[in-house]
Amino acid sequence: MSAQLQTYLSRRSRSVRYIAAACTAIFVVSTLYYLELPHYAGEFRFDEHLPQWPAPTPSQYPQDETSSHVWDTRAAQVKQAFRHAYQGYLEHANGFDELRPLSNVGVNNFNGWNVTMYDSLDTMLLMGLYDEFEAALPVVAQGNFTRLRSTPDTNPWSRSGYAPFFETVIRYLGGLLSAYALSGEKLLLDRASELATLLEPAFNPATGWELTYGWRAAVTPSQSGMLAEIASCQLEWTYAAHATVNKTHYDRVSDLLETLANAMEERKGGMFPTGWHLNTGKPVSESRSVGAAADSAHEYLLKQYLLTGKQQDIESLEMYMLTTNEVLTRLLYLTPNRELLYVTDTSGSKFAPAHRLEHLACFFPGLLALGAHAVDLNAAFAGIDRTKLNAEARRQYDLLSQYDVRALHMAAAEGLATSCWLMYADQPSGLGAEVVDMEHTVRDGSSKDAKGILWIDAVEGWRNKGRTGPLPGTDEKKPIPYTLSAKERAPKAPWDYVVKRHDYFLRPETIESIYIMWKTTGNPVWRERGWAIFEAIEREAKTPSGYASLKTVTQSPAPQSDDQPSYFLAETLKYLYLLFSNEDPVPLDKWVFNTEAHPLPVFTWSDYEKHKLGIPS
Ligand SMILES: *[C@@H]1O[C@H](CO)[C@@H](O)[C@H](O)[C@H]1NC(C)=O
Ligand SMILES: *[C@@H]1O[C@H](CO)[C@@H](O)[C@H](O)[C@H]1NC(C)=O
Ligand SMILES: *[C@@H]1O[C@H](CO)[C@@H](O)[C@H](O)[C@H]1NC(C)=O
Repeated sequence: MSAQLQTYLSRRSRSVRYIAAACTAIFVVSTLYYLELPHYAGEFRFDEHLPQWPAPTPSQYPQDETSSHVWDTRAAQVKQAFRHAYQGYLEHANGFDELRPLSNVGVNNFNGWNVTMYDSLDTMLLMGLYDEFEAALPVVAQGNFTRLRSTPDTNPWSRSGYAPFFETVIRYLGGLLSAYALSGEKLLLDRASELATLLEPAFNPATGWELTYGWRAAVTPSQSGMLAEIASCQLEWTYAAHATVNKTHYDRVSDLLETLANAMEERKGGMFPTGWHLNTGKPVSESRSVGAAADSAHEYLLKQYLLTGKQQDIESLEMYMLTTNEVLTRLLYLTPNRELLYVTDTSGSKFAPAHRLEHLACFFPGLLALGAHAVDLNAAFAGIDRTKLNAEARRQYDLLSQYDVRALHMAAAEGLATSCWLMYADQPSGLGAEVVDMEHTVRDGSSKDAKGILWIDAVEGWRNKGRTGPLPGTDEKKPIPYTLSAKERAPKAPWDYVVKRHDYFLRPETIESIYIMWKTTGNPVWRERGWAIFEAIEREAKTPSGYASLKTVTQSPAPQSDDQPSYFLAETLKYLYLLFSNEDPVPLDKWVFNTEAHPLPVFTWSDYEKHKLGIPS
């Protein structure tokens, strides 16, 4: 497999070219102050007037020593970086999906529809790059979505004439809808709706779980699909249904949410595993992950609830609570020396933790912080009906019920985001590796924690000792330069991890979490950390025509690879820009970012929409 191909195959769960989708919601009988959940759930009581979580008191954190003028300059530098990447794309790869920033040619790896342009539209609007935006509109107007174009060095799915559903949804559909929401250009909505209609055959009306590479091929009746790819289209279809008031679009969401809710009802708690049989809607195995293969499915559970104004989709929120109950009690670990908090994945039915941290999983602290900020998590937790949970989920629930659940989510966010930042800050390049393996050798020579310390156990210890000092994993930490030779590193290295996959693919996840940590805590340290990362990108990844992925983060200058993913413009640079910008064009309580960082506006369904789309009120 070529390195290029591996890059694509390891892009989140964007890995797989399966698709799927499936889409329904279980609706919820709601009155103004009282919502009752059917199925296993207990009663959620939400008061419409429940206050937002209070903003952090500024005195809690040090003063921002960088002036707002300097932040303006830094935001302007990110805008300049975006222009550089986009101009290079237009100059050398116009008409192709992505730029190869070393050889200065184009590649078609996502349908051959100019993915970098579509993925960049809303970033242009947020940055005020209106000339670039207006120049793109005629291309969008004329693009032919029924013609797939590939280049010889392209993804296998593109060559075989398939449009990958998941990638097409999050990049093209999400990009069009977000740019429409920000600009009001009707053309963008028309094209989005047309694309959504073209994607219809990917949905299986019979089972709701379906697998196909796209509408071009006869449906591939594959047996299984990845969680992230079958359960991450709700936001896009929900907003499309709202913007067009089209019941067919709405039914997709409704079907998918119903499938998920039914699966959860059967499982009686916990998180969804990573692999699913598409025809039966049953899991393939019990492997868990918040990284590759699963990530955005967990993300969309919370975000669906937020997008529809916290008025509907209560079941989606409840699935988010049951998911995070399991993550907090079973997947979070601490390393023995630095007490780095990390989230692992597991494989097989025996629940074996892999003790590795993927860059892809570094979006998760941001998600936890967003949930803790936007939702009354304690009320949501209290609404879970314990008696309907399976024994393991009940154990998780009982453990967590000793705590202020919202504070626990925020603490986990803080600890995880800090580890994700250190994965960058430790490295000579200043950029984070794709995967690190955590180590559990205790430096005093004992090896009693060789299997790692479960975070919740450490938290229990902290609670039993009277809750003094910071919660485990959330104390202040400093980078340790990752410079020693391999011999010096082993076996008692100071980092508590070894780099397993050395690449840096210009990915957004850590920056995304840093952005949300900044927005939800107001602690200026996150902005400074983000700035150090941007400086590292400028130093290590910039080429005369754009920005290149890196082959290894453990060297500086780092060897580059010939790849500038569209998500670098759509996500990485967008979050950096928003992090430094003193203005907030897309506040987190009014906009929900899809998993490709395309913001969609929060809304509530009008009575007419409920009537027309068949939404229970
Ligand atoms: C992609 O760009 C090329 C060159 O501008 C254009 O001919 C083509 O129609 C575009 N395709 C889409 C789907 O936008
Ligand atoms: C779009 O492409 C398809 C397939 O190549 C072709 O049949 C169709 O005529 C094209 N449509 C337009 C408007 O060019
Ligand atoms: C609504 O969406 C369906 C399927 O996506 C499509 O076939 C139909 O034309 C749309 N209706 C309108 C009025 O646009």
